[in-house]
Amino acid sequence: MKKVFVKSYGCQMNVYDAERMADMLATEGYAETKAMEEADLVILNTCHIREKAADKVYSELGRVREMKQEREAQGQEIKVVVAGCVAQAEGKEILRRAPAVDVVVGPQNYHNLPGLLKRAKAERVVDTEFPIEDKFDHLPKPSKAMIQNRGVSSFLTIQEGCDKFCTFCVVPYTRGAEVSRPVSKIVDEALRLADAGVRELTLIGQNVNAYHGEDASGSVWTLGRLLHRLAEIPGIARLRYMTSHPRDMDDELIAAHRDLPAVMPYLHLPVQSGSDRILDAMNRKHTGDEYRRLIERVREAQPGLALSSDFIVGFPGETDAEFEDTMRLVADVGFASSFSFKYSPRPGTPAAEIETQVSEAVKSERLTRLQNLLETQRQAFNHGTVGQTLDVLLEKPGRHPGQMAGKSPYLQPVQIETDCHRIGDIVTVRITRAGSNSLFGEVVEPGSQAAA
Ligand code: SAH
Ligand code: SF4
Ligand code: F3S
Repeated sequence: MKKVFVKSYGCQMNVYDAERMADMLATEGYAETKAMEEADLVILNTCHIREKAADKVYSELGRVREMKQEREAQGQEIKVVVAGCVAQAEGKEILRRAPAVDVVVGPQNYHNLPGLLKRAKAERVVDTEFPIEDKFDHLPKPSKAMIQNRGVSSFLTIQEGCDKFCTFCVVPYTRGAEVSRPVSKIVDEALRLADAGVRELTLIGQNVNAYHGEDASGSVWTLGRLLHRLAEIPGIARLRYMTSHPRDMDDELIAAHRDLPAVMPYLHLPVQSGSDRILDAMNRKHTGDEYRRLIERVREAQPGLALSSDFIVGFPGETDAEFEDTMRLVADVGFASSFSFKYSPRPGTPAAEIETQVSEAVKSERLTRLQNLLETQRQAFNHGTVGQTLDVLLEKPGRHPGQMAGKSPYLQPVQIETDCHRIGDIVTVRITRAGSNSLFGEVVEPGSQAAA
């Protein structure tokens, strides 16, 4: 049997796409391997969001080239595919820079992979046109065994692309315009996942709360309404969604946090900056105070809400005072977890053209300060859960025999001692201790919900 190795960089969309590519190649006779050295087909599923992410691809391709040459010297053939957002952004430039690459395929075209691999026997190929048809209609459904292999928590793409055009961001160019999948396709996929034992769905999209998919009668559903439908599926106990934009948090979605126990009390809602002038220059179309008020409203609906966010420091022209506005917003809101980055100028985006770029040294200093504050908040949040009773979805065996590992409603990894539970069970756990990354707890009986 032929073997395929897929390595994904970047966001949850790429993780999902990598699974779909593996599903599709399974029908072409490829088994997935975790070792690149034994693969007949190597796929790098790339990310273009920051310069570092894009550069990584070329250093990895250098290693792949050596491997390909060694294998060819032994008379074995391997094919190399570059997929994802670097493929979309750079297209045939990749063929020029990286001689080992056989196929370049964009995130909206990977359903064409079988045909592209056939063509690649004779020539090097690039497929980055935004297609008219829906790639999801061309993707095979994964087998029950493949779903089970991936565990009890699953991503499900409901929306792709972005029309927001934040001035720093490549996503609208690499993923194209916003498109929502129809309700029936999403529900079918969720039913299939639930049938294979999946307990937690994370609905994903570049702007997931801009969801506006149609049902069979042609009426348009919001994300709030979709969450209500998915919460009815037997077996599905937890619903999450990411990544959301503050401007698309509508009343129906906020109400879902209040009305649906399956919607987890955890929200990833990137704010990027606390300065109104920077937010405006970023084209985020909201102010720091609007974000604060929005958070208050979601917290009223779900008092147990924990938050996470993304931040960019050193956006062009950001002054010390404007950076302090970000620090203040973080102090005001309080985050359970966050991602923060130095601004990275991206080719073709408006912010990259601004002349007042911030120096590396200043960006580094600001990032360190921000990350220290965010880390303090994260630790405080984790320690704050000690003594509390939380539901934990068991996902895998723990580090030691007799232990199992799972996630709290707040996505914290939790280790418990147990010998009578199974993967997929949701157990009620008293948290006894917080380590630097994991929590530790003991099972409180009764109250646990067994997997089906
Ligand atoms: N759609 C999401 C985020 C997608 S990109 C949203 O609107 O928030 C993920 C994160 O990468 C962004 O939230 C931002 O913090 C960061 N990012 C995007 N472009 C960047 C750039 N040019 N430099 C640094 N960080 C960037
Ligand atoms: Fe990028 Fe902004 Fe779209 Fe998020 S909303 S993907 S940051 S352009
Ligand atoms: Fe990266 Fe593309 Fe996701 S640029 S963050 S992989 S949408």
